[in-house]
Amino acid sequence: MQIIQANNYNVEIGNLMESSFSKLLSEYSDVKKLILVDENTQEHCLSYLITSFDELSDAEVVVLPAGEENKQLGIVGNVWEMLTEYGITRHDLLINLGGGMISDMGGFIASCYKRGFPFVNIPTSLLSMVDASIGGKTGVNLGHFKNQIGVFNNPIALYIDKSFLATLPDHEIKSGYAEMIKHGLIHNAELFDRVMEMMRTNPNEIDVQLLMDCIQVKNSVVTQDPTEKGLRKILNFGHTFGHAIEGHWMERGGMTHGHAVAIGMVMEAKLSELRRMISSQEYDKIENAIIQQYEMPSYSDTDIDAMIALMSNDKKNISETVRTCLLDTIGKCSFDHVIGNAEMKEVFRFFQKN
Ligand SMILES: NC(=O)c1ccc[n+]([C@@H]2O[C@H](COP(=O)([O-])OP(=O)(O)OC[C@H]3O[C@@H](n4cnc5c(N)ncnc54)[C@H](O)[C@@H]3O)[C@@H](O)[C@H]2O)c1
Repeated sequence: MQIIQANNYNVEIGNLMESSFSKLLSEYSDVKKLILVDENTQEHCLSYLITSFDELSDAEVVVLPAGEENKQLGIVGNVWEMLTEYGITRHDLLINLGGGMISDMGGFIASCYKRGFPFVNIPTSLLSMVDASIGGKTGVNLGHFKNQIGVFNNPIALYIDKSFLATLPDHEIKSGYAEMIKHGLIHNAELFDRVMEMMRTNPNEIDVQLLMDCIQVKNSVVTQDPTEKGLRKILNFGHTFGHAIEGHWMERGGMTHGHAVAIGMVMEAKLSELRRMISSQEYDKIENAIIQQYEMPSYSDTDIDAMIALMSNDKKNISETVRTCLLDTIGKCSFDHVIGNAEMKEVFRFFQKN
């Protein structure tokens, strides 16, 4: 079992059965336990959890519809009503068993209900293992605007067991790789090369050391700046364009979070090159690596206007100016760069297919 110390909790990486989860459940033996899943993690992950831990045999299970379009306040409201029906108190325990949608929503549900009760994250997607379950950001979307409502609050424990990935579809594995690529691009050029190499050669056999190194990047940034006053903003690299793309695609059949972020990273790398912050060679290396793995979507001029409108409402903006992260080199990122509509349009147009 590998243990990384986070802000007031431990991240344990390894077989869940050998982790401290059982001990934690015994500490909560006298209270109600709730497990939050979505339809897919109910099907693929829940029975393992319930059959492996006797303490969970009488846990209430709350099942949410799967998919980013359901990460909405209305659904959170329904769950809060269920919690009232189950008589949940501030002493009870919520276990989030799922991807980033479940840890974001579950963390928010537990943080606000009766002013907060404890929750544990057991991520089941690659993206949530390397990113979403760590760092205390919880919340929901507001229509197409991503993560507009939420709070910072940490789980009491986080257990990462990569055996859950056995049932994760390939496109979701790919989605998780995008955030791993990001961790390399913003923090460590050698990590970027290792992630790309693994993705090219053996994407489903995720090396534990690589997983750990990506988790360490996220954890070290969020422990230094838990509420995103400065440094933590670098984790948003790829997300200014990425969130607009993801939000815009929500009603066009959807695009995984990671796919949108991957495209967003290419666009923000392009902007870094246009501003002469990175060289053309560096930009070409990034574009070649990412575009081989993630298809650039087609979009019209009307789509560009809609995506620019979404970017104007991004949480990272200050005083109505759009702010983004840009690369200083591969492995180093800076934040709070102001960008105007003309520049956004130039970048979108550059990647527009005829
Ligand atoms: N809080 C943060 O710091 C943070 C960081 C990055 C992303 N996010 C959020 O995380 C979300 C994206 O995370 P995600 O990609 O995990 O999304 P997700 O939770 O929607 O999971 C993706 C899909 O995989 C399925 N799935 C999950 N685990 C499975 C398993 N073991 N077997 C089979 N299917 C499984 C889910 O049901 C879903 O259909 C977005 O909402 C994003 O905004 C949050």
